[in-house]
Amino acid sequence: MEGLKLIHMDENETVKKQIKRGREEQSPFDSEEFRTSNGISLDVTYMFDAPGDGSISREGVESLIPDVMKVHHMLKNNQGDIYDGDILMTGWQDLPSEITREHLRDIKSVTRGVAGEVDAFVSIGIGGSFVGIEATVRALTHQYFNQLDREKRGGAPEIYFLGYNMDPDFFRDTLDLLEGKRVAINVISKSGTTTETAIAFRILQDMMEKSWGDKASELIFVTTDKVSGALRKMAEQKDYRSFVIPDNIGGRYSVLTDVGLVGLAMANIDIEEFVAGFKNMREIALGDDFWQNPSLVHAAMRHSAWRAGKKVEVVATNAVSLYSVARWMEQLFPESEGHEGHGLWVSPSLYSEKLHANGQMVQEGERNILETFLLLKEHDNRVRIPGTEDNLDGLNFLVDSGLDMNFISRKIIEGPAYAHYHGGVPNMTVEIPKRNAFNLGQLYYMMERSVAISGYLLGHNPFIQPGVEAYKHAMFALIGKPGFEEIAREIEQHLEKMKRIRVP
Ligand code: PA5
Repeated sequence: MEGLKLIHMDENETVKKQIKRGREEQSPFDSEEFRTSNGISLDVTYMFDAPGDGSISREGVESLIPDVMKVHHMLKNNQGDIYDGDILMTGWQDLPSEITREHLRDIKSVTRGVAGEVDAFVSIGIGGSFVGIEATVRALTHQYFNQLDREKRGGAPEIYFLGYNMDPDFFRDTLDLLEGKRVAINVISKSGTTTETAIAFRILQDMMEKSWGDKASELIFVTTDKVSGALRKMAEQKDYRSFVIPDNIGGRYSVLTDVGLVGLAMANIDIEEFVAGFKNMREIALGDDFWQNPSLVHAAMRHSAWRAGKKVEVVATNAVSLYSVARWMEQLFPESEGHEGHGLWVSPSLYSEKLHANGQMVQEGERNILETFLLLKEHDNRVRIPGTEDNLDGLNFLVDSGLDMNFISRKIIEGPAYAHYHGGVPNMTVEIPKRNAFNLGQLYYMMERSVAISGYLLGHNPFIQPGVEAYKHAMFALIGKPGFEEIAREIEQHLEKMKRIRVP
């Protein structure tokens, strides 16, 4: 039997874009015309006066504006509770305008050189040292990137992620795909002490050294603090190529630092266009006109919703490619807001998949939900729907009206926006014109600023994460790491005091 034929399908535009990027053909991201047709926007029509308890009024939001403007100016002027120890943690604010073309060129030249030598690249890290890279690669490339041949990947190596969990089966399965391949890795950890990252790194480092001897050191990148920490020391000792996580930028705000840029350049994503998106949104988000500033409006809406009793923010998208971006938001917001019993739980969702699962809860369950949609307006590809003679499923009307999957994809957000609003769920939509690095850069900066503002509004520091440190310390103790004996004893005594309750 012959293989499946793709009927009425054009060439895959995502692949075509990737091939162009591989040839270093850039989009005209610096032009006014490009910026005008590629501006993301925030639609808050469905935020106000949803029926039922916990409704948000426009007057309520307007009354919050003076507070929002106050913290907006404090943030701009680096005032407030924004230190980690004695370091001011707002380095991400001006980073878009500080990155130089030379720096981007250096990164590209390193990654191009190594990409040409290897079949696969493994990015090792967790939290902010992982999620932004994965989200951006998935947002902008083919969803089965590693299964494509190299030409269709625009010459980029296969891209893998490790160190973001401690599942030996997952680790082993990934190794199966790396076996026999020439591999480069980038280990990313600001602290240099994160257990998951360190263990994944150790294993790969060991395999690479045993496979290639001294050559391995040319294929190992380290991205860490400029001067301190175990990884910095190791990079110096072993002469690894190293990149820097600035000490005034926390992990979840670091996608525009070398943390993100190296992995993105390795996947042929245009990092200059990415920076241009950040820069563009920075100008907008520093603006003082509340209703023209999506970061301020987004922060005010979320804060009003939280005050009105909303506990969960469903971040739903109509694009599989943007689902990981919703996951990036799941990391950015709760890790920044979750202090002192405050903050919204972010639940990333792919619609319409989740409409057939938690969609029931959103429509009719407890009214403690806010929704933020990430609506991709223009997908890379068009998929037409064929007509049938018998029209048994009744869908020929779509064909007769010339409508395709792209049209329906949009309604997958517009439909729930209307229905959920009437079910008592206020919602807002971030409209994202296209799958490109510019739009992603804009979105990331908008959200970084939004969560910084909402952290201030909640009355605490959005740039520290003592809760995450608490788990790290308990885990160090439980695995017997020297220096954590005291906590280990506390855990043991605690467990002795409590009776284990196991069922059955
Ligand atoms: O945002 C954060 O600070 C965290 O999510 C960190 O990025 C994460 O815990 C990983 O830390 P590190 O880079 O030190 O390994």
